[in-house]
Parts: sequence; C-alpha cells; structure tokens
Amino acid sequence: MSDGSFYQRDRSRHPPAFSPGYKTSVTRSPQKAPISLDNTISEMTGPVFGHGLIGELDNDLTRNFAHGGEPIGQRIIVHGRVLDEDGRAVPEVLLEFWQANAGGRYRHRKETYLAPLDPNFGGCGRTLTGPDGSYRFRTVKPGAYPWPNGPNDWRPAHIHFSVFGLGFAQRLITQMYFEGDPLIWQCPIVRTISDRAAIEQLIAPLDMANSVPMDARAYKFDIVLRGRRSTLFENRLEGN
Ligand SMILES: [Fe+2]
Repeated sequence: MSDGSFYQRDRSRHPPAFSPGYKTSVTRSPQKAPISLDNTISEMTGPVFGHGLIGELDNDLTRNFAHGGEPIGQRIIVHGRVLDEDGRAVPEVLLEFWQANAGGRYRHRKETYLAPLDPNFGGCGRTLTGPDGSYRFRTVKPGAYPWPNGPNDWRPAHIHFSVFGLGFAQRLITQMYFEGDPLIWQCPIVRTISDRAAIEQLIAPLDMANSVPMDARAYKFDIVLRGRRSTLFENRLEGN
C-alpha cells in the first residue's frame, strides 16, 4: 500500500437513523433534511490534550473510584491500538471509556436498573495513546443489563469509547463488545448494523497472551479511524 492511499468510508454499512427495532431511534431520527454547518475555529483548533491532563489512576477503573476496597467483578485489561486508514499508528489520541459495573449498573442518576451500585467502582476512565498508537486500561468486565425497548431486551456486556482527535469536531464514539457473548447477536442496537463484518470489528477477542496470571484476562480492541477498514462509529453520517 503506497503512502497517500485513500479509502472512502463505506457509508452504506452505517445503520439507518430510523430503525424501529431500536425503539428510541423512531423519535430520535431526523424528520427533516439535515443542514450542514461549517466548522468553527474553536471546533477545529481545540481542545489540545497533553499528558499533564491525565491522572495516574485514570486508566485503572479498578482503582480510580475505590473507597478502601476492590470493585466486584472479573478483572480485565483492555488494550489495542488506534490506527489510520493505512494501519499507521495515531499517537496522542485521547480515549475516554465508560461502562456499567459487574452487575450491569451504571453510576448515573438516571439509571433505573435494580442491580446494586459498587462502592468501589465508578465506571469511567481515560488515557492517551502512545507513540505507537497503543493504549491500555484496567477494569472489571461490565455486566449485561436490561433496557426499556422491547419486553425483554438486554444489552450485551460492552464498554463505550470516545476517541478525540485534535479538535472538538473530531470526536468519534463507539462500543466494544466481548468475544463469545450470545447477547451481541440479539441486541436491537447491534442489529441496526446490517454488515456482519462491521459488528465483528466491534467485538474484542480474548487475548490470553497478554493476560496477567492470577490477576486479569486481556481483551484486544483496535480502533481504525477511517477508510474501508474503519471501525463503525455511532456518529451521525453528516459531518463525518
Ligand atoms: Fe451502555
């Protein structure tokens, strides 16, 4: 592959905004033609992230909210690389991640699921990619949770990711799933994605080679920012 190769994003594999199986998409989907706005200077030039922003425990969800104990759950390491369309590393990218606790409960005031909060687990973290585009964080495996959609719909275990480039207009959002979870293929949100290969790119394989014996299993999740091998992002198509 030569430098400068350009692969257009395959927009046809993005789920339609109106997907009635995903109930809230009915009211969320646009009723009128979208309007394209020019980016503003502040969107294009900021924010600028530096290592000074990142706290020592920001990439360790097992410790960054702990109040004298360990969070309940299966200890895991999530790691991978952020890559461009040609497989080149993208350094200095701010990754933010958030998730439910091991019981499937979010620490959020609008959360209504009956699973208990974990006093030692907040569920949010962040890190910057290194010179080789790599990132790594520790957490506990999130639980599946039910949500008010159909009569009995459950989200598979997942971690939400935000990827920040050099400007506010360059934020991408996606979700990572876990290899072997049967709920993935039943999830109404996942099922809005018609391209099976795009779904499979969102599923992190178990990575025993990077597991820490008697401590944590590892899952590997690479994020490709654009091009025909792009990770599927949830962002609306306009402005991508
Ligand atoms: Fe979620």
